[in-house]
Amino acid sequence: MKAVIPAAGMGTRFLPMTKNSPKEMLPIIDKPAIQYVVEEAARSGIEDMVIVTGRGKEIIENHFDIAYELEHVLGSRNDREKLAEIRHIAEIADIFYVRQKIPLGLGHAIYMARKHVGDEPFAVLLGDDIIVSEEPCVKQLMRVHQRYGASVIAVQEVAREDVSKYGIVAFEEVDDHLFRIKDVVEKPDADEAPSRLAVMGRYIFSPEIFDCIARTKPGKNNEIQLADALNLLLEKEEVYGYAFTGTRYDLGDKFDWLRINIEMALQRDEFREKMRELLKKLQQ
Ligand code: G1P
Repeated sequence: MKAVIPAAGMGTRFLPMTKNSPKEMLPIIDKPAIQYVVEEAARSGIEDMVIVTGRGKEIIENHFDIAYELEHVLGSRNDREKLAEIRHIAEIADIFYVRQKIPLGLGHAIYMARKHVGDEPFAVLLGDDIIVSEEPCVKQLMRVHQRYGASVIAVQEVAREDVSKYGIVAFEEVDDHLFRIKDVVEKPDADEAPSRLAVMGRYIFSPEIFDCIARTKPGKNNEIQLADALNLLLEKEEVYGYAFTGTRYDLGDKFDWLRINIEMALQRDEFREKMRELLKKLQQ
């Protein structure tokens, strides 16, 4: 299965940092956000990925390329550990790039990858959503896809005050963690939301979604919304929602970025004690 990773958004919620650098390159301690996303796809068994970029996002391509000069310097210092770490980044997967030339929305960004994907089911991982879990989130969705042969989207319950930040689904419960999707509403007001079950940035789509996107008219914010295309897909095929296991961080959000850095530091041996001490001290 191939993966499409939309990374063309402008990151307006993270200004001024994102004025001239992509939000997907924000560091989580020492690794850019998009590397976690690419690694999640790779850990799910995906070897062929398309990153949908846009103007000003060239450093994403450079990050996944071989850095010849850097490797030369590390090699001459005999720093094998760093050399292996740097080389690994260029070998995670075969990554292809396509540009979304005009920012016309998430649906439109995914459509840019249609020729590379072809007529097969494919995964979508949003480049600014990080999901930390033992079994990669996409792998969890793949299991559902294999069982039902249908499109699957990752969902998670959110607080009432947060529903206006997400695509929210109307559903029928099928099994533990599993829902049949009936409708998707993009970023509704809390009073109009069909539920509190929100679409998170991971999907497995049947290739039919491309035709649906092509038929989707500009919707909210005058963009080609993936949620609207999903509703067209629902007229033809079943779509499932899977409440995955894992913690999800929205890297477009400043507080989530602070939170993931602290939580990740607490998981790393080199920082755990120091971070605990700092947090204790700050509480006093
Ligand atoms: C996008 C989708 C939305 C989804 C969200 C998850 O919105 O349009 O349906 O719930 O990702 O992160 P964005 O956050 O790009 O505005």
